[in-house]
Parts: sequence; structure tokens; C-alpha cells
Amino acid sequence: MQIDWNSLRFSYTETDYIVRASYHGHRLADGTLEGTWSEPVATRNKILPMHVCATSLQYGQEAFEGLKVFRGIDNKIRVFRWQANAHRMQQSAIGLYMAPVPTELFGKAVELAVRKNKRFIPPYETGATLYLRPLLIGTTPKLGVGPGWDFEFIIIPSPVGPYYKTEGDAIPCQTFIVNRHVDRAAAFGTGRYKVGGNYAASFRGTETAHQQGYDCLFLDSRQHKYIDECSAANFIGIRYGEQTQYITPRSSAILPSITNDSLMTLAKEQGLKVVRRHIRLEEISQMDEAAACGTACVISPIDKVIDPDKNQTYTLPQAPGKVLMGLRKALQDIQYGRAEDKHHWCNIIQ
Ligand code: PLP
Ligand code: COI
Repeated sequence: MQIDWNSLRFSYTETDYIVRASYHGHRLADGTLEGTWSEPVATRNKILPMHVCATSLQYGQEAFEGLKVFRGIDNKIRVFRWQANAHRMQQSAIGLYMAPVPTELFGKAVELAVRKNKRFIPPYETGATLYLRPLLIGTTPKLGVGPGWDFEFIIIPSPVGPYYKTEGDAIPCQTFIVNRHVDRAAAFGTGRYKVGGNYAASFRGTETAHQQGYDCLFLDSRQHKYIDECSAANFIGIRYGEQTQYITPRSSAILPSITNDSLMTLAKEQGLKVVRRHIRLEEISQMDEAAACGTACVISPIDKVIDPDKNQTYTLPQAPGKVLMGLRKALQDIQYGRAEDKHHWCNIIQ
């Protein structure tokens, strides 16, 4: 099958292989897990037979990740910050009482997934990448409410194109709408973990927004006062000044974005002041630029934020703005091997 790389969107295209590893264990009297992981294996079979009572199916005991593999200007294959994804998945696993996938196993599985699917890594300058979706699911059959002790770790690769529809080279802007009637995550819930339940919980907000032609801006669930997240991405605001500020939410309910973390590092290097704090929704009126950021969308500029409850629309003066677009380029230059990888974020697979 010939793939038209340029017309790919952010959706699933099946590749030759997925990678799998299994954990089988038991729980000790104090609740801790004891067990072992198998070695990762590549398989063409994408079907996973599972007991209908598996804890992932019954009680949502599952976590996932998302990372990208780039074909660089030098034709080399670069995996971006997989160790950070391994670490975040370990945090999600601990949060949901699952067996954390050891970093070494995660790395081996990533490498195997890339090597076995080389023909699905899009060529340089197509705007497409190979997305890897690591998945960790509970497979112990249980009806009683509680965590299981058997898990399956899977890496599902898929070549993907841009998250948001583009026209030519222009980077599209998104309009976000606030929804105070749907919360993505509770203040001390699972928002900081990348678990499926958070996404199912957000559908009512995101789908309602989509039907209106917008994306959903989630506020903190306790007071509906502070910005939490932009659909499935972190929020960044830019305020020009003597020292331009890069402002991003501090919240116990948001996902610690690896893209945001990388951009904060680059922003500091460019002389910006990076500030992580609670951001009141109204503060958008004082911002010069704003964007959603994540692996899938990289940086997606925000042109407006609508608050229907208050009959208020905030318009960002610069959309797209030069600061965030500069950061986007700086990040992509590293990912595509066009700039020095000072922080050793890319792992090259020969
Ligand atoms: N926030 C949510 C809810 C997400 O699903 C994602 C995507 O992974 C992000 C933020 C961005 O995180 P990252 O930059 O690590 O992809
Ligand atoms: C991202 O990777 O940036 C995301 O938003 C994850 C989403 C596709 C589930």
C-alpha cells in the first residue's frame, strides 16, 4: 500500500507491527505488586483476546502515552524524549495501581516498534511523522472493585499528519470555548495522569465545543476560575514587555506536557521569563499571544476564547504570534535535526 504522506491527518493508519509485553504477578498482603515483565515482541496481530472482566474494560485501569518519531533533514530517524514518556507512564501506572513499565523495557519496545516499521516513517518535509501510542492495560479478570495484577504493554505505531487542518503552509488558529458545566478532571483526581478515563470524561465538553465549531477550554474544577487545559493540550500565554513572559498554568489536575516542558526550556534560552502559576480566565485579555501545546499539535495558536456564561469574547492580538511561532520553529528544528540537540532530547535509531 502506498501512503500519500501529504494528505495524512491525525488518525490511525495501520502499520506492519505492534509491540507487546506482558506482566503477570500477584498482590502482596500490603497491596504492593510482585511480578515480572516478559521481553517485548513484535507481532503483526493487532487483535488482543481478553477476558470480558479485564480490569481495563470494567474499571478503566489503563494508561497511554504519545510520542513522535521524525525523519530528519539528514535522513536520520529521531525519537523525541521517549524517556520522558516512559517516566510519565510510570507515574500514571502508580496512580492507577498498575505495574510500571521499566524504562529499559519501554526503550527496547520503542526501538523495536521503530525498526519493524521503518517504511512507515514519513519522509522529511511531508509534515507527517510516525506517532507511537504506548498503551498499558489491566487484563486480570475481576468483578469485585479493585486493581488487578496482570497487565499488557503495547506500542501501536501510526504515521500521522497535522492535528489541525492546514491550508498550504499556514498554521491554523483555534478558537476555544469555556464550558463550566463539564469538568475534565477533579483537583486531586487523575488529571495529571494520562489515563483513558480523563478523555472519556472530557468528551461531553470537547464534542459540544466541536459541534459549535470550537475547541473546549477546561477551567479548574473547584472554582471554575483558573485555566486548566485546552482540550487535550496544555495552555501557554505570552505577555510582551521589557522581559516577555511565557505563562502556563500550575494545576494539580493537568497533564505535565513534555512539549510544554521542552518549550519552557527553549523559552528560557531565548531570554523569556517562564512563569508557572494559576491563570485567571480574564487574564487572557492581557495576553498578546496564546496557544495550545502537545505532541500531536506541537503549538497551535489561539485566536479567541469565548466565555458564553459571561457573554465575553477574548481576542488575542497576535494569532499566530511571533514568539510562539519562533518557539515552534526552535522545537521543530531540533526534532528534524536542523539545529543542535543541546539537551539530548533526540535518540537516533540507525
Ligand atoms: N494535556 C493533555 C490532556 C494531553 O492529552 C496531552 C497530550 O499528550 C498534552 C496535554 C500534551 O502533552 P505532551 O506534550 O506530552 O504530548
Ligand atoms: C497530544 O499528543 O498532544 C495529545 O493531545 C494526545 C491526544 C492525541 C490523545
